[in-house]
Amino acid sequence: MVWTSHPVKQITGTLRAPGDKSCSHRALILGGLAKGTSEISGLLEGEDVLNTGRVMAALGADVERLGEGAWRVTGVGEGGLRSPSVDLDFGNSGTGSRLMLGVVAGYPVEARFIGDESLSGRPMGRVLDPLTEMGARYDASEGKRLPLTLQGRSDLSAISYEPPHASAQVKSCILFAGLNAEGETQVREPRITRDHSERMLRGFGAEVKSQRDGAANIVSIHGGQSLAAQETMVPGDPSSAAFLAAAAMISPRGGVVVEGMMSNETRDGFYRAAALMGAHVGAEDVGSAAGERLIDMSFESADLKGAEIPVDLVPSMIDEFPILAVLAAFATGTTVVKGAAELRVKESDRIKAVVAMLRVNGVEVEETEDGFIVQGCSGAVPGGGLAETHHDHRIAMSARVMGTASQKPVSIDDAAMIATSYPDFMEHMRVLGADFQQGAS
Ligand code: S3P
Repeated sequence: MVWTSHPVKQITGTLRAPGDKSCSHRALILGGLAKGTSEISGLLEGEDVLNTGRVMAALGADVERLGEGAWRVTGVGEGGLRSPSVDLDFGNSGTGSRLMLGVVAGYPVEARFIGDESLSGRPMGRVLDPLTEMGARYDASEGKRLPLTLQGRSDLSAISYEPPHASAQVKSCILFAGLNAEGETQVREPRITRDHSERMLRGFGAEVKSQRDGAANIVSIHGGQSLAAQETMVPGDPSSAAFLAAAAMISPRGGVVVEGMMSNETRDGFYRAAALMGAHVGAEDVGSAAGERLIDMSFESADLKGAEIPVDLVPSMIDEFPILAVLAAFATGTTVVKGAAELRVKESDRIKAVVAMLRVNGVEVEETEDGFIVQGCSGAVPGGGLAETHHDHRIAMSARVMGTASQKPVSIDDAAMIATSYPDFMEHMRVLGADFQQGAS
């Protein structure tokens, strides 16, 4: 169904950040493996995370919702996972499916992994290859894609692996398999990626070693460790908050505070890039949760300037390029994104989708192999276009934010998939003053 975001004069208010998606998946997974009963608060109840909860239940964990964001998970503990009697359906979620391939690989369990059209088109070889090296077997659709059946085993061998892509999903998959492998499993990532698996594994009592070597990061885990149930409070999601932040920055009168956000250098690239472009970003420490620092962040209208985004920032803002492109469209001057070829295999080909979203709304943009170049409109983004979302929640949210400050309204072909990661997005944006209407403008 088509939705339209109409320009508004101001975006203001204070909101609590929704629970972090990456941490929510991991809290359900580790709670489901641990011995005993874990309590989780602040869980993101997006479709992707709910699917991970259903999958853990199908594999033998007891997963129960107590109230809004409050969940109780009794893990399988030493008894281990059981073969599910149903297909494991991950919907739209690359994270859920890739992390769970690593988990299932370490148990003598056979499971069929399925997902929606977008997920069934995404590459799984990046995790199936190392898991095969460890001893797991699979039968996959063409191009090592879903649907696929994985045969795990209780005697996986540890490996030392250097992923060809900077990917937290690949790292986490191997670490989760390594938890049940014989010996020490090591992942050597060329550039550090989000480290929530390492932090949360430690929180559940496992020993995980991390060592930095320049930009590189070496993580190792011994097999045969058991996890103990935990109380986990999920911190706020910096990737979801980026949409609220950008809406404030491009608004003629913007002033937004987002409370309870996770502050982690493997996730804050968008905020550092926005600061490079001239945004004023305030941060105040407010404690910690799930082994992560928490901050309240404030954002306001800004005279943004185009910038060359440092390649070093790419892994820490890998999900934020669609919304960064919106900032670039409003900025004065040229913004260059490169070294981001991974965007081609996200929920959509995000380089193509971003370029099309900007172009149809009158912004000059060039597609490159590993990024894009945007000629900023100095605040005057024409708008008036219908952006194709390609089942991609972050394209849909970015286009909606763009429409809050463009000259003419911006439409999207579908908004339903926003519920995979940020079910309260529409309500939150309306609280801040956005005007979203059903139908074309
Ligand atoms: C995630 C890792 C990233 C990111 C995704 C969440 C995670 O994917 O894009 O939204 O929770 O581990 P890659 O590992 O493919 O970069």
